[in-house]
Amino acid sequence: MIRARITGTGSYAPEKVVTNVDLEQFLDTNDEWIRTRTGIVERHLVVEGENTSDLATKAGRRALEMAGVDAADLDLIIVGTITGDYPWPATACIVQSNLGAVNAGAFDLSAACSGFLYALSTGVDRIMAGNAKKILVIGAEVFSRIVDWNDRNTCVLFGDGAGAVVLEASEGDHGVLSTHLYADGTQLELLYQPGFGTRVTPSAEGIARGDHFLKMQGNEVFKVAVRNMAEVARIALEANGMTTKDVSLFIPHQANIRILDATAKRIGLKDEQVYINVDRFGNTSAATIPIALDEVNRAGRLKTGDILLLDAFGGGFTWAAAVIRW
Ligand code: ACO
Repeated sequence: MIRARITGTGSYAPEKVVTNVDLEQFLDTNDEWIRTRTGIVERHLVVEGENTSDLATKAGRRALEMAGVDAADLDLIIVGTITGDYPWPATACIVQSNLGAVNAGAFDLSAACSGFLYALSTGVDRIMAGNAKKILVIGAEVFSRIVDWNDRNTCVLFGDGAGAVVLEASEGDHGVLSTHLYADGTQLELLYQPGFGTRVTPSAEGIARGDHFLKMQGNEVFKVAVRNMAEVARIALEANGMTTKDVSLFIPHQANIRILDATAKRIGLKDEQVYINVDRFGNTSAATIPIALDEVNRAGRLKTGDILLLDAFGGGFTWAAAVIRW
């Protein structure tokens, strides 16, 4: 059976690090509130001139290097992002050009914080259908440019970054075993960016209202996130005849520590099974899972045969999970 196997991982976060104490300098907040409510201590933020495609390209290049794959041999590049360089064309096309992936198709995929798992799932399906052999899947975001830096309810939560994996067709039992995607658009205004698309078009009034900034009702999002992340994790394990005991490592979307703890508890995972790096990156949306995966991979924490459970929830709402045999 042909499966999609992850043969390389890579990540990149901007050099500039902003701590909670740095935020205290211009915002009515404090390190203690942010740590206890979110687990976040610091985040990486882009500087002027640094864009989503730059982060995505660097992460992608590192993943290609690890896999030993030449960019010219890629069949496809998918970038999960909702903060692309332009409304269109796709940031994936800029990455394609930067990398010299002259034989690859390229597109962006919009599923907010679930963007990487949605993109991974799409890549896996193309490989399993025999339509591609080598695919670069990236999650990349620059949320620092869509949050209102005067809104303490939201701006403290997010960071910028990118993570990537190379998927290759492979015979056998190792690779991505299953992916599971869900969505519910009935409550989209709990987490969204009103402007500027074709519904709310650009205007001076819209800018004055802050329509171009991310809006979130944190309390409501929290409850739905925990419920759905736990549910999709159960579905994913069941689909493979597994239980939480089979999970070597749970890599959840790093939204905030309380969502991660509550989800892990609900599905019965032990602390040592859960990977957490939200303290150092904040919520980088579609980039959190591939950044975490790259960290554990480069740290030598993954052994052949390990079972990984990946789990995300985000705007839309969208949620997703994947089970991988490393
Ligand atoms: N610093 C200090 N005080 C603050 C801050 C801040 N940065 N932000 C809010 N507060 C205040 C509020 O104004 C409020 O004060 P008040 O009682 O005087 O009005 C008080 O803290 C409590 O506010 P709540 O919103 O009730 O705080 P809560 O405990 O719910 O925590 C949080 C807020 C952290 C946003 C929480 O709701 C949450 O984690 N939600 C999940 C949302 C999330 O992570 N979204 C990411 C995108 S979706 C995803 O990735 C899954």
